[in-house]
Amino acid sequence: MSLSREMPRVLTPSDLEAALKLSTAAGWNQAPEDWLRVMRLAPEGCFGIDADGSLAATATVVCYGADLAWIGMVLTDPAMRGRGFARRLMEHAIAGVSVSWIKLDATDMGLPLYRKLGFVDECAIERWAVEAAPGCLDAHPSGPADGRTSSDDQALLDDRAALGADRSALFAILEEEGHLSGRPGARAAYFGPCASATLEGAMARLCPFLDQNKGKPVYWDLFPDNRNAAGLAAEFGFKPVRRLTRMVRPGIENPKTLASDPSLIYAIAGFEYG
Ligand SMILES: CC(C)(COP(=O)(O)OP(=O)(O)OC[C@H]1O[C@@H](n2cnc3c(N)ncnc32)[C@H](O)[C@@H]1OP(=O)(O)O)[C@@H](O)C(=O)NCCC(=O)NCCS
Repeated sequence: MSLSREMPRVLTPSDLEAALKLSTAAGWNQAPEDWLRVMRLAPEGCFGIDADGSLAATATVVCYGADLAWIGMVLTDPAMRGRGFARRLMEHAIAGVSVSWIKLDATDMGLPLYRKLGFVDECAIERWAVEAAPGCLDAHPSGPADGRTSSDDQALLDDRAALGADRSALFAILEEEGHLSGRPGARAAYFGPCASATLEGAMARLCPFLDQNKGKPVYWDLFPDNRNAAGLAAEFGFKPVRRLTRMVRPGIENPKTLASDPSLIYAIAGFEYG
């Protein structure tokens, strides 16, 4: 099929219904609030292509300062696939940022396109799920060690050390929403972001979230290579249900090395945020 000439445009909250239709058709967990949050965080970084009178494809790019940009919500309406829309949106998103590194979490469907665009595999990332979340004390009778809590300031510091980039804008929005440790989703509540230097620190974030969502389905995206994270998820009854690939490419020539430490990451913030 010949490529059509529809061009990327910026998405706004008025596109919410159409954008949500695409993520729902793909079986994703994003609720309306998730789309609105990414549009608020990156008002100039959410793109769509219209074709045949409707929103056909989307992609978002969120910049964390000059160090890192994150691409997400790469979706094409099943009836519009193979027309070059995702490639055009990706090229547009990449061309619009000037950061050391660009990363994303790729589904198997997205992998071939990202490889063609110069992304290489960084590590495996898995979605773990539990059908009915246990209360914290049900699964772990001793609870977080010494009843320790983890402050929100510490959460941001740990996140910076883990990712190597400053996500204070994302954290400010999540904090305002009351969603620093997790948030509702279309199919399941979502645990994360959670970065911590210690298992106890991770539990201090996990436990209140599980107690809030006791008996409900919960998703948790983690790196299987982080045995502490996978062990904690297993201890609370979570099981792996999907595997994706974290990918990276330089955004500029001679990019600055990211001082990141994935061993600190217990739960990512979301596939659209890293
Ligand atoms: C992945 C997805 C966004 C691709 O959208 P699309 O608009 O059909 O992609 P394009 O038409 O721009 O194709 C891009 C390139 O990837 C290739 N490609 C796309 N899907 C492919 C597949 N499943 N296998 C092999 N190659 C594929 C195309 O041949 C094309 O190559 P070219 O540009 O060199 O010709 C779409 O399949 C989708 O929405 N999938 C479900 C959601 C998803 O998994 N998104 C990715 C999230 S990381």
